[in-house]
Amino acid sequence: MLFYMNEFLEAVSFALDFIEMDISGVSSNHGKRTAYISLRIGEAMGLTFEELHDIVALGILHDNGAVAKELVYELDKENNYSIKIAESTIAHCTIGERNIRIYPFITDVTNIIKYHHEKYDGTGYFNLKGDEIPIMAQIISMADQIEINFDLVNNDFLMRKKIYEFVKNNEKIIFSPELVRGFERVAMHTSFWIDVKDNFISAALKNIEPKCSKELSFKEIRTITQVLSKIIDSKSEYTQRHSKELSEKVEVMAKYYNYTEEEKFKLMIAADLHDLGKLAISNNILDNPGKLNEEEFALIKEHTYYTRVALEQISGFNDITEWASNHHEKLDGSGYPFGKKSEQLDFNSRLMGCLDIYQALTEKRPYREPLAHSEAMAILNDMCKNGLIDKNICKDIDYVFNNLDFI
Ligand SMILES: [Fe+2]
Ligand SMILES: [Fe+2]
Ligand SMILES: [Fe+2]
Ligand SMILES: [Fe+2]
Repeated sequence: MLFYMNEFLEAVSFALDFIEMDISGVSSNHGKRTAYISLRIGEAMGLTFEELHDIVALGILHDNGAVAKELVYELDKENNYSIKIAESTIAHCTIGERNIRIYPFITDVTNIIKYHHEKYDGTGYFNLKGDEIPIMAQIISMADQIEINFDLVNNDFLMRKKIYEFVKNNEKIIFSPELVRGFERVAMHTSFWIDVKDNFISAALKNIEPKCSKELSFKEIRTITQVLSKIIDSKSEYTQRHSKELSEKVEVMAKYYNYTEEEKFKLMIAADLHDLGKLAISNNILDNPGKLNEEEFALIKEHTYYTRVALEQISGFNDITEWASNHHEKLDGSGYPFGKKSEQLDFNSRLMGCLDIYQALTEKRPYREPLAHSEAMAILNDMCKNGLIDKNICKDIDYVFNNLDFI
């Protein structure tokens, strides 16, 4: 199918926003604003279409290392985590560089994220100077510095003047003279300052970003969506293992049902990403060994809504979105987040729902050992009797995972 990289990037941006929502309560649009400003300065400096396309992706992803669990945990020990504080660590540059290696950029962007805090005078984290700093890293650094140091959401005439002064005063200190000229050409336009406000930034970025699409098979698309899986993994090991093993089980069932390669990979992508929305839920709740209280359960119930919103961004992902985000709906309408009924749940949505429960029961939890196949099936069969899940699918699951050697 025709796969639009920009739409995928939008889904990635949602995923990063979810983590920020969990950590600090709100998403700051820091990535989007940095991407927008970088793109505008890049245009003014004559970057190619391909470079401009990549700089948007890099802008969105530039601080992806700041939400890695090792860093969040480290900073959280002192109870002072925020993206701004994470910006002051070298680790967010190196982890960020490592995480995006599999992203299919068009140009060579090696070390751009690693060097996005370098300064013209050589006083950055890695002491690169002037032209030693790759041009895209210089541009992202400028966008980032403006974003971090000023509350662009509320920019007015006075703040705009202060930003001009900040940029000018740091010529040959943080920024190269060419970069300062580039910024001046962009910042002279009123539209620039309105675009970066919260109400407009998403639409503004969407309107001007260079679009790129590729004809890809779902097998190839799955290698790209692994970027999202990587971000999910970097937050919680538990979700990582759970999704990986669910995908393996989905693959086994797809073989049993003689699915086409295309349908199999679509279903596996859905399984990889089904708990994407858990990025917005605190690890304190996800890893809670005890029974959840009402308030915590109400929060957990939000996760499939977020999965849906992120995946809906991608054209051609309609089936995948349904199969991934219906996995907690029940046939009698008692599930969440929509309370869908049996007639709204297609076969693969039901299959994903049953397998997700089977997977959860047969994996180790902090508070219990994995259940054996027969114990898990007893619980699933009870749910069938109560009209919650599909009994024919449960019969198939019972048969297949009891007789794995037929494959
Ligand atoms: Fe940063
Ligand atoms: Fe940043
Ligand atoms: Fe779930
Ligand atoms: Fe799950």
